[in-house]
Amino acid sequence: MKKMRLGKSQETLSCVGIGTWGMGGKFEADFLKDNECVEALIKAVELGMDHIDTAEFYGKGHTEEIVGRALKIIGRERVFVTSKLWLTHLERSIAINSIKESLRKIGTDHVDLYLIHWPPTKDKSIEEAVDVMNDILNAGYTRYIGVSNFSVSELERAMNRTKSRIVCNQVRYNVQDRSVEEPGLFDFCKSNNISIVAYSPLNRMEFDPSLKKRLEEVGKFHNASITQVVLAWLIKKGAFVIPKAIEEEHLVENAKSWSLELSDEEMEMI
Ligand SMILES: NC(=O)c1ccc[n+]([C@@H]2O[C@H](COP(=O)([O-])OP(=O)(O)OC[C@H]3O[C@@H](n4cnc5c(N)ncnc54)[C@H](OP(=O)(O)O)[C@@H]3O)[C@@H](O)[C@H]2O)c1
Repeated sequence: MKKMRLGKSQETLSCVGIGTWGMGGKFEADFLKDNECVEALIKAVELGMDHIDTAEFYGKGHTEEIVGRALKIIGRERVFVTSKLWLTHLERSIAINSIKESLRKIGTDHVDLYLIHWPPTKDKSIEEAVDVMNDILNAGYTRYIGVSNFSVSELERAMNRTKSRIVCNQVRYNVQDRSVEEPGLFDFCKSNNISIVAYSPLNRMEFDPSLKKRLEEVGKFHNASITQVVLAWLIKKGAFVIPKAIEEEHLVENAKSWSLELSDEEMEMI
């Protein structure tokens, strides 16, 4: 599996990681498929995806418990774990409690990367939120900090507030939804060495018919599936991808996507 450097850090992680939204529930905890989800995470790491993306919000915390169960079997040291602080938890004492709860559920004394899940709404400023993240970093609860769903101006404010580096901006980015390219966010992150981590990289498998046709055409030429084309397109753009998959066939397919080399013409055509 190809590794890519995370922001300006010395850390490298697999360009394909594994997302966890929906494992163990979405807005509520759902215990029905726990074993299947744990197995999927173990398989993902076996296939070389050494980055697990989760959040305290997912499954009302149960997703982090599933990650914890999987890590007990995989071995914590083999995986780069990202979690996220929820929007309404940015106040200092609540945030400290949140990260401690996340660590308890994941079964570790630190995560590798901790993100502000969404930019704060008006009652909390970005500066206050970043101060809290710095405290969490300084306390050793995370090795790196980053943000998610931040615009250029929000990123600038966050960067101005912290001496430690914002290593990534996790944003919705895929062949269907390229909105991060338009307002210059993608270029801004690149020029500031802030990694783009593309969430919903498969757009949950929803593509316009004309785009789908183009993806199929490229896939046919390479003997690859459209999901592999979609992920390879993002990787070639320089983004980390974190597709969520439970089905083994999906995991295997996604893990192989990094080796698909798209030509410049194909990138244009897509
Ligand atoms: N920061 C944020 O605000 C934010 C927001 C959304 C998501 N995220 C993160 O990003 C991750 C990925 O995004 P996402 O879950 O929204 O959507 P996604 O990864 O674009 O799509 C997931 C869906 O695609 C299916 N799938 C996966 N691989 C496939 C393949 N090879 N062929 C066919 N279908 C395939 C999965 O099915 P199966 O599960 O049945 O295999 C699942 O239904 C999340 O899990 C989460 O960790 C972050």
